Amino acid sequence: MAATRVRFCLALLMLVASMAAWMMPSAVAGSRPPPNYADALSKCLLFYEGQRSGKLPPTQRVTWRKDSGLIDGQDAGVDLVGGYYDAGDNVKFGFPLAFTGTVLAWSIVEFSAEMGPELVHAHEALRWLTDYLLKATTQPNRVFVQSGEPFSDHSCWQRPEDMDTPRPSFQVNDTHPGSEVAGETAAALAAASIVFRSSDPAYADTLLSRAKQVTQSILVLEIYQGSYAESIGQWVCPFYCDISGYEDELVWGAAWLNRATNSSDYMEHIIHGIQQIQTQTKLRVNGYDWQFSWDNKDAGSYILLLLMQKTDDDYSRYAQNFACSLLPQSPYKSTEYTPGGLIHKASMANLQAVTALSFLLVVYGRHLSSVNGIVTCGNSQFPPSALIDLAKSQVDYILGDNPLNMSYMVGYGNKFPQRIHHRAASVPSVDQHPQHLWCKDGTPYYVTDAPNPNLLVGALSGGPNDGSDDYLDYRPWANQSEPATYMNAPFVGLLAYFSRYG
Ligand SMILES: *[C@@H]1O[C@H](CO)[C@@H](O)[C@H](O)[C@H]1NC(C)=O
Ligand SMILES: *[C@@H]1O[C@H](CO)[C@@H](O)[C@H](O)[C@H]1NC(C)=O
Ligand SMILES: *[C@@H]1O[C@H](CO)[C@@H](O)[C@H](O)[C@H]1NC(C)=O
Ligand SMILES: *[C@@H]1O[C@H](CO)[C@@H](O)[C@H](O)[C@H]1NC(C)=O
Repeated sequence: MAATRVRFCLALLMLVASMAAWMMPSAVAGSRPPPNYADALSKCLLFYEGQRSGKLPPTQRVTWRKDSGLIDGQDAGVDLVGGYYDAGDNVKFGFPLAFTGTVLAWSIVEFSAEMGPELVHAHEALRWLTDYLLKATTQPNRVFVQSGEPFSDHSCWQRPEDMDTPRPSFQVNDTHPGSEVAGETAAALAAASIVFRSSDPAYADTLLSRAKQVTQSILVLEIYQGSYAESIGQWVCPFYCDISGYEDELVWGAAWLNRATNSSDYMEHIIHGIQQIQTQTKLRVNGYDWQFSWDNKDAGSYILLLLMQKTDDDYSRYAQNFACSLLPQSPYKSTEYTPGGLIHKASMANLQAVTALSFLLVVYGRHLSSVNGIVTCGNSQFPPSALIDLAKSQVDYILGDNPLNMSYMVGYGNKFPQRIHHRAASVPSVDQHPQHLWCKDGTPYYVTDAPNPNLLVGALSGGPNDGSDDYLDYRPWANQSEPATYMNAPFVGLLAYFSRYG
């Protein structure tokens, strides 16, 4: 199947004869070695150093990257230096960035005991992000939600170190709300406060009080609710539009606040938010198409609330429905799989869905084990191990157990993507090419079929995305070849878990 599709695509692209070479399998895999989850974990975290914006510290291990984005915030008279570039571009998109922070924090909250020597790097990766979120939330009733003008950024193929496209700072505030991005920012700050609670209590206190401040303005002052797409418009949406509405972020943010404060202070907001969501979706119906992504937090919220078990309610039913929608043997399965067994949910960066859903399967499966629970889907019942095994099959697929024998993590295994859609990785580094490269100077490095000169070790590519197991290692197809910060965040937790129990 794979070969047919590759040949078909090849035929389409015959015009560009020189491109053909990169479609041939570059290594013949013999018998497959077992996955090295610990090695993958270490690389998965290293990826975040390659995405860093701002002034790099002496401990920076990805040394081909240099300082960049040093004027971010200046237009608004604030300091927004730092944080992460979102994906293969140089914009700091606050909504998916905050989701990355929440899930990275959740990975650490659940699996710090399994991280071994990588725990320190996990803390560093998270703190680089939360330091930025603290800068973005210094003023009450104002959250800076983006640095960088996306249209001009996307029209250049330029190293972050050379960036000369406009760097406007976008905000939401008391006249222009953005409940989804503020809710996610509160969630990230609260979740991170749990991570740092014992190692740095003062920092944890700062994060938590900031989370409360942000939450105060969106939950308690409900007149300020609204979507950032309305308030900011084209600069944030079509890029990261909150299709699912902002109620899920309000529930999610409130749930993380409760967990971080060991309280039920925000329970009424959670109940109210869930009622709102239920009027719009069919969560209770068998086979509902559950999501967990930077856009949609529903599955994550209910599983988080189930772990907290503060009230007697529907969370367990929702969590079972979620599992029933995924388990291949479930009568209520609503999830597509490729012939090789990979979840197929998204045509853009499919692995973001694979890693996020698998993360929830492990978190939920572990919880079920601890309470001797099972999942019931109609007349079928599944033990917790069924959820864990499904997650493991997804992780193993990503690490090379797939029809192409290819790892989808750059630098992991002996066959992995060589041409990810990533400006910094594909243009020669400042060390190799010290002269400034202007906006269009990068184009030859974008169109060439040569491998990227810089290995962005640990980056996951978007992976197979059309329902088959095929993959073209082709830079211009961003839907397959672009990495993103939110793809790695749940993978950190998964790799930690399987490095101990795989
Ligand atoms: C509030 O946010 C809007 C939308 O980002 C912006 O245009 C406006 O200038 C901000 N208001 C203030 C007082 O900064
Ligand atoms: C919440 O409870 C945990 C576990 O008992 C404790 O370690 C932590 O300090 C508490 N957090 C707060 C903010 O009180
Ligand atoms: C993948 O590896 C298996 C052996 O593990 C081999 O039979 C198969 O031909 C390989 N496929 C490709 C596309 O290299
Ligand atoms: C991915 O992008 C390419 C180029 O725009 C397009 O031809 C292809 O159909 C896309 N694939 C999917 C599954 O959307």
